[in-house]
Amino acid sequence: LHAGAGATTDVLIVGAGLAGLFLALKLAPRPCLVISPAPLGQASSSAWAQGGLAAALHPLDSPAQHADDTVAAGAGLVDPVIARLIAEDGPARVRDLVALGVPFDRTPDGQLALSLEAAHSHPRVARVSGDLAGKAIMDALVAAVAAAPHIELIEGARAEALLQDTNGRVAGVVLRGNTGRAFVKTARETVLCTGGSGGLYRVTTNPKEAQGEAIAMAHVAGAVLADLEFVQFHPTGIDIGRDPAPLATEALRGEGATLHNTDGRAFMADYHPLAELAPRDEVARAIHAERAAGRGAFLNCITAVGEEFPHHFPTVFGACMSANIDPRRAMIPVAPAAHYHMGGIISDLWGRSTLDGLSVCGECSSTGAHGANRLASNSLLEAVVFAERIARRLRDADLNEAGASTASATRPLTGPDMLELREAMSRHCGVVREAGGLTDLLSLIERLEAGMPGAPQLTAARLIASGALARAESRGGHFRSDYPDTGAPERQFLFHTSREALVI
Ligand code: SIN
Repeated sequence: LHAGAGATTDVLIVGAGLAGLFLALKLAPRPCLVISPAPLGQASSSAWAQGGLAAALHPLDSPAQHADDTVAAGAGLVDPVIARLIAEDGPARVRDLVALGVPFDRTPDGQLALSLEAAHSHPRVARVSGDLAGKAIMDALVAAVAAAPHIELIEGARAEALLQDTNGRVAGVVLRGNTGRAFVKTARETVLCTGGSGGLYRVTTNPKEAQGEAIAMAHVAGAVLADLEFVQFHPTGIDIGRDPAPLATEALRGEGATLHNTDGRAFMADYHPLAELAPRDEVARAIHAERAAGRGAFLNCITAVGEEFPHHFPTVFGACMSANIDPRRAMIPVAPAAHYHMGGIISDLWGRSTLDGLSVCGECSSTGAHGANRLASNSLLEAVVFAERIARRLRDADLNEAGASTASATRPLTGPDMLELREAMSRHCGVVREAGGLTDLLSLIERLEAGMPGAPQLTAARLIASGALARAESRGGHFRSDYPDTGAPERQFLFHTSREALVI
């Protein structure tokens, strides 16, 4: 496809979750175009976030302690400069959201009410109506975007390739509308904010559409990616047969909810001294082990939350009741579910990728904030902190025009092939991995690629699986049963060569 005539946008924002919309608002008055795959507000994982946004707002807390917790959770791979940066900017970004009208929960004396989540040394998570933070934040942003004259919007289109000029400079995207029509949008700066890759897994808390398209597009275009093997599995997806799996927020364990097996045993103390408040990867592996041993796993909120459930956790309550489980009186069946991609397209302190003309923000990026295991509720924080930094960099910059540009068209994987891929990803590249399973998975991907060359989901899955095979150690969210020990803390970068990913 060639970029034809048509207006070139200053800043093209691909994706309309928290990162994309916050960036668009912060760019004012610089004109920008936002591409949303669905009607605004219905198109992202952000709106599903239950916990909220972590920031050092408690009187006994500090950005330094928040940064330390972030580094500790990340199992040796968090960049301490980035951890400090997001922790220091956090309170100001929460104030921005308050100014946009986000109705964060308050204590009786008017302070922000803060939840405790696993591996945080203080209550630190600003929340809305218990478990509705993502939805409330997105509602406020959607209203502000609708009223912002500098923001143009295209709803109902997804990006499938990056346009590049002969020097490799990114010049916009190839989009496919919901009607199937492909078209091109050129831009002086393109920002990928398309979220994660949980939809590549059969068991996920993400919208199924989150299929790693940003990492696939950026890889094909030659951007450097990092640490793609680090996928975070949320310990407590609600196991009621729904796809995607509804989430039982970690804040429930912060309130004192406990994990039990079918024998009634509260098993977490057998696995980690912090029991239910152990880091997320530890809890996910414990639940995986109980389930693999046939003992099952259930979240018991009966005493810790009890009658308050419908008011304090309305989303979780609704999900449970839809399956005839009343969490005030019965335990909730849970299973780990693909939840957040820590790896992604590498970005510098200002959200720049390694390709001219391309920035990245939110879950598809790899800033160094999350390492091998993201601290709960740091994802919304990272998205707003980096969106603000990208906006500060681009708002008044002289943006260069790219030359004549082209891109290769791709076709997505669908139907039974996609289901086969998702099942194989959950089976072989899930909470526990080993070389044999990963090799089988890569063979399947190769077979599917023969019939559907260039399908972005297959590229993304191949990058994750080959990263997992190449990392011969266990660390954070990446556990290899054949390499259970942790080695030296090294990031793993992926570069594109003519055909295959080169893993170093
Ligand atoms: C949760 O509420 O448990 C999810 C929060 C997060 O993933 O950061």
